Amino acid sequence: MTKAQHYPFTSGTVLGIETSCDETGVALYHGERGLLAHAVYSQTDLHSRYGGVVPELASRDHVRKTLPLIHGVLDEAGVTRQDIAGVAYTVGPGLAGALLVGAALGRSLAWAWQVPAIGVHHMEGHLLAPMLEAQPPELPFVALLVSGGHTQLVQVAAIGHYRILGESVDDAVGEAFDKTAKLLGLGYPGGPALARLAEQGDPQRFHFPRPMTDRPGLDFSFSGLKTYTLNMRSRIGASPQNDADIARAFEEAVVDTLLIKCRRALRHTGYQRLIISGGVGANQRLRQRLRAMGASETVEVYYPRPTWCTDNGAMIAYAGYRRLQAGQQEAPIIQARPRWSLETLAAIDD
Ligand code: KG4
Ligand code: ZN
Repeated sequence: MTKAQHYPFTSGTVLGIETSCDETGVALYHGERGLLAHAVYSQTDLHSRYGGVVPELASRDHVRKTLPLIHGVLDEAGVTRQDIAGVAYTVGPGLAGALLVGAALGRSLAWAWQVPAIGVHHMEGHLLAPMLEAQPPELPFVALLVSGGHTQLVQVAAIGHYRILGESVDDAVGEAFDKTAKLLGLGYPGGPALARLAEQGDPQRFHFPRPMTDRPGLDFSFSGLKTYTLNMRSRIGASPQNDADIARAFEEAVVDTLLIKCRRALRHTGYQRLIISGGVGANQRLRQRLRAMGASETVEVYYPRPTWCTDNGAMIAYAGYRRLQAGQQEAPIIQARPRWSLETLAAIDD
C-alpha cells in the first residue's frame, strides 16, 4: 500500500458493520469509553416464509437497512462523522453478496472520511465478544464458537493466535437446532423456538446419543441427531408432549456433547479459562450447564450477554478496534472472503 492510501489510526471511535448473514448490525466502539451505541436489525421475518435464509433477499435488505442504522447509532451516541477514527466491517466468512454490502459501504465510508478501514473475520468477532463485558476474560483461553454456520473449539493463545482444535464434520450446532426444529414443525430460525419447547419437556424420558464422544478427539458431528429425532417421532407419534420431550432430549444431547468436548479441550491445552460465543451461546440450558461447570471445577467460564452471542455490530467494532490499534488496515479495495480460516489471521502482539 502506498503512503497516500494509508491513514494513521488515531485511537477514538470505530464504526463497526456486520452484514455476513441475516442480521444487519452496527455499533460504535471507543477505545477508552467502550461501547457507545449499537443496533441490530434481524431479517427473520423476511426469510421465515422460505424456511431459511435467501441470500439475494438478505443482500438487498442489508442495502436498505445498513445506512439508516448507522445514522441511528451516530445520533444515539451524539457522535459525528468527524469523531470516527476508523471503520470495521465483516469481510468473511459468510454469504458473498451480504458481505459485499457491508464491505462496500464500510470501505467507501472510510475512504470518504479519510480514516483507516479494517476487514474483520466474523468468527474473531464472536470470539472477542466476551471482551465487551465488564469482566472480560484474560488470555489465554479455549473458545467454543457455536453459530449457525460454525462449531469450533479454538485455542486462543493471544489475539490473532488461533488454533482450531476441533470442529463439526457435518452440521454446525445452530444448523442442527434449525433443522431439527423444522422436523418438529417449528418456524425459522428454529433454535430459539426449539429451546422454548424443550423447557416443557421431560428430561428423563429419552436419552439421545452424544455423537463422537466415545472416541478421542475434539471434532463434532451433529447431523445424526436430526435423523434420530425423525425416527423417534415417527415411532412414538407427534403430540405436543412428545415433541417437547424430544426437543428436551435433543437439547440435552447437544449441550452434553459440547460440555464433554470443552472439558477435553481444556485438558488438552492445560488452559483453565473457557469462553462460549456465537448464536447458540444464547441457549439458556447451555449457559446453565456451563455456569455449573464453572462453579464445580477450577475453570473460569465466560460468555457474552445473549444479544452479543448472536450476530451483532458491537463485536465487529471491537475486533476492528483491536486490529486498527495494532496498526493493521485494509487496502483501498472492496473485497469479501466468504470462506476464510481463522488460523490464517495475522497475530496481534500486545
Ligand atoms: O451467530 P449467529 O447469530 O449467526 C451465525 O453466524 O450463524 O447464530 C445463529 C444460530 C441459528 O442457528 C440459531 O437457531 C441459533 O444460533 N440460536 C440458538 C438460540 N439462539 C440462536 N440455538 C439454540 N438456542 C438458542 N437460544
Ligand atoms: Zn455469527
